[in-house]
Amino acid sequence: MNLKKKKYQKVIRLKKKFKFTDFDLITNYGLFSGDTNLFKTLTIFDLISKTSSVKGDIIELGIHRGNTSLLIKKILSIFKIKKKLYLLDHFKGLIHYNKDDTKRSKVFRNQYIGDKKQIQAFLNFFKFKNVEIIDKDATTLKPGFFKNKKFSLAYFDMDLYVPTLRALESIDRNISVGGIIVFDEGHHKLWSERFAIRDFLKKNKKYKKIFIDKKRQPDVILKKIKN
Ligand SMILES: C[S@@+](CC[C@H](N)C(=O)[O-])C[C@H]1O[C@@H](n2cnc3c(N)ncnc32)[C@H](O)[C@@H]1O
Repeated sequence: MNLKKKKYQKVIRLKKKFKFTDFDLITNYGLFSGDTNLFKTLTIFDLISKTSSVKGDIIELGIHRGNTSLLIKKILSIFKIKKKLYLLDHFKGLIHYNKDDTKRSKVFRNQYIGDKKQIQAFLNFFKFKNVEIIDKDATTLKPGFFKNKKFSLAYFDMDLYVPTLRALESIDRNISVGGIIVFDEGHHKLWSERFAIRDFLKKNKKYKKIFIDKKRQPDVILKKIKN
């Protein structure tokens, strides 16, 4: 059993021992949230704040069940930031493995299959508007796909080499100067987002690569410094 699962079981035992209800579990975020989740929340808040005055909207690529998507949308809503949120996924999970993906990552083949209806149900429950789900396979993206849209922030979380590289090549022209592309696992050894970043940057000198935290997620950003 991995460390994360063990920690989860321990916290569930604490929940039972001290008689927390399911409602308590959801509302006592400070007690039950692990630092991994909290780090992600705070980092996303920080990136949204830093790019709030940069021209353009926000996009997440690789949304699974919409956890990060709803997190972004809640931050936009709380702080009244009027940016549209685009959510791109093909809802087929991890399937586009090639030689650039690590052997260890192959056990995740066909996992992380999301459900558009479930995400829409959550968006409806919170009465969120100004969100568009793009049902699209990122390996088929071409430059020009996003037309004349502008993005201030793009959150990449597709894990694999080909979808990440194709999406980078496609979205580059739509990222505003000062805008940020952030990677959930841009440094992580298990995944190959890092190879896609490396190959993208070989031909593209418009970005500065910055590590956020080498042991947490998200871990890497590419900041667009010129057009
Ligand atoms: C690790 S999950 C994303 C987790 C999500 N960001 C969250 O907050 O929970 C990876 C996602 O990338 C998507 N994905 C993988 N390859 C893709 C591709 N070629 N095109 C579009 N989406 C893809 C999968 O369907 C899956 O939903």
